[in-house]
This record gives sequence, structure tokens and C-alpha cells, in this order.
Amino acid sequence: MSYRLFEGKDHASIYQKYRFVPPEEVKVLILQYLEEKRGGQPLGLAVDLGCGTGQLSRLLAPHFQELVGLDISEGQLEEARAGLGCPNVTYRLGTAEELPFTDGSVDLLAAASAAHWFQQQRFLTETQRVLKPGGCIALLGFGDDNVHLQSRDCGDRLTQIYREVREVLLPYTSSQVAVASNKLQELFDAIPFPDKQRVESVQVRHCVSVRALLGFIESWSMFQSYRSSQPTAAQHLLDDTLNRILEEIGAESADTELEIHLEYFCILASKPQ
Ligand SMILES: C[S@@+](CC[C@H](N)C(=O)[O-])C[C@H]1O[C@@H](n2cnc3c(N)ncnc32)[C@H](O)[C@@H]1O
Repeated sequence: MSYRLFEGKDHASIYQKYRFVPPEEVKVLILQYLEEKRGGQPLGLAVDLGCGTGQLSRLLAPHFQELVGLDISEGQLEEARAGLGCPNVTYRLGTAEELPFTDGSVDLLAAASAAHWFQQQRFLTETQRVLKPGGCIALLGFGDDNVHLQSRDCGDRLTQIYREVREVLLPYTSSQVAVASNKLQELFDAIPFPDKQRVESVQVRHCVSVRALLGFIESWSMFQSYRSSQPTAAQHLLDDTLNRILEEIGAESADTELEIHLEYFCILASKPQ
């Protein structure tokens, strides 16, 4: 079964605008690991699985001869194609469980905030098939439990508002998102390669407007499920959250900026030589 919670055009355009680009630090870790495992050979093909609107694809592309962004949602891919172009990137419809690549042809299979949607065993079987010897998997994401908001001296109260939004959305959370909350531990354990490691706690701070923070919340699959079943209540949740945050930081405009602190993790593994 494929999970199709990212199909809508509006949802895809929210994704393009408000999802965060993964941090440079994580990119550097991935490239160092890959270069070590590939013994310094030129980096040919990278694949960004569940690429969404292409944030990770564009970050990785300059380091490879070719990068393919793959996603099951045509809506997401259309937004990715409409975004800033990189000459060596193509976006294709496809699934992580049936990769459209020949045996032993891929240097890197990466996924940002997406691997919890994949069917574990079929994805791992494909991983073994398409990776070159020494080719790598890099699965990254951020833990929602450690998200922190800050604006001058308001921190804990803003973070509490954010947590309360998540609590309202809890009944609309897919079981797959729950898989992500333990940082893909089950998938990590199932990776059949002896060379694997977890990198934890890469701290990142983004400056975002209150409007962009609400856009980020709107991008969550559970918010989209809530909106589908209760559109009025979902709009009320956004309006109420906007007002509460503005009141807390003593501002009137949704363009006022605050900081969001995220803690990224990354699973790295390499196919034996
Ligand atoms: C939470 S979004 C992450 C998108 C992007 N990587 C990012 O970091 O913003 C998850 C994406 O995975 C895609 N997806 C879900 N299941 C998939 C599968 N089995 N194969 C490929 N893509 C999948 C969804 O369509 C969606 O675009």
C-alpha cells in the first residue's frame, strides 16, 4: 500500500513555500561518508526518494553528475519542476519500493522526512539491488519532540503553543508519522549492511515569519487530514494559533520573525564493496 497524503495541488504549493531545506552540516556528513565508502571515485547518480518539492534534491545536486528526484505524487513533482532548476536534476514519478534504475547503478539513495512512508522490506530489497558496491543510503529527518520556538525572551510558552497544535492533530496522525517519531529505529535495525551508523542531534536554527511557521504547520499530513474532515475547525486552529503567537510575542504582523530550532538526525549505511 502507498500512502497518498501529499497529492493535492494546494498542499504541494504549501510544501514548496514552507518546508525547510535540510542543513548544510547534514549534507557535508553525507558527502564525507559517501566519498570514504566509494574510495574517492567520481559521484555519478544520486536519488532523492520522496523528494516532495525538491529541497534535498537541489541541495545535493551540485555534488553529483546526475540527480533524480522520485516521488509518488505528481502534484509535488510539478512544484519541484517549477522551482529553481538545476541542469543535472530530473524529477520522476515512482516509488521507493520499485526503483526505476538498473542493478548496481546508484551512488546514493537519500530521503528527507520521507522514509517512514516506505514499505520497509521492499525498499531495502531495492536498495541492495540498485546501489553500487560502496554506495550509500542517507535517511534524514528531524525529531518533532525537540522542536523549540524562540522570540526574544519568549521561548517555552511559544513552544507550548506549538505542542498544543500537535496535540489537537494527534488523532489525525498516520501510523507512519509515528514511525518517524522514533527516528526510524526499526528501519535502521532492518538495514542489512554491517556498515551503518546514526548521527544524532544536528541543531539547526531557522528564522521564520509567524506566517511561514503556520505554513509549515499546514504542510503536515495530519493537518491536511484534519482539514479534509473538519475544514472550519482546521481554519480556526490556524487563526487561533496565529493570534496566540502574536499576543505572546507582543506583535501585530504575521510577518514578524521568530526562531524555530530543529534537531536533525541522519542514518547512514553503505553496501559492502
Ligand atoms: C513529508 S514529505 C517530504 C518531502 C521532502 N523530502 C521534504 O523534505 O520536504 C514525504 C514525501 O514522500 C512521498 N512518498 C510517500 N511514500 C512514497 C513512496 N513509497 N515512494 C516515493 N515517495 C513517497 C510523498 O508523496 C511526499 O512527497
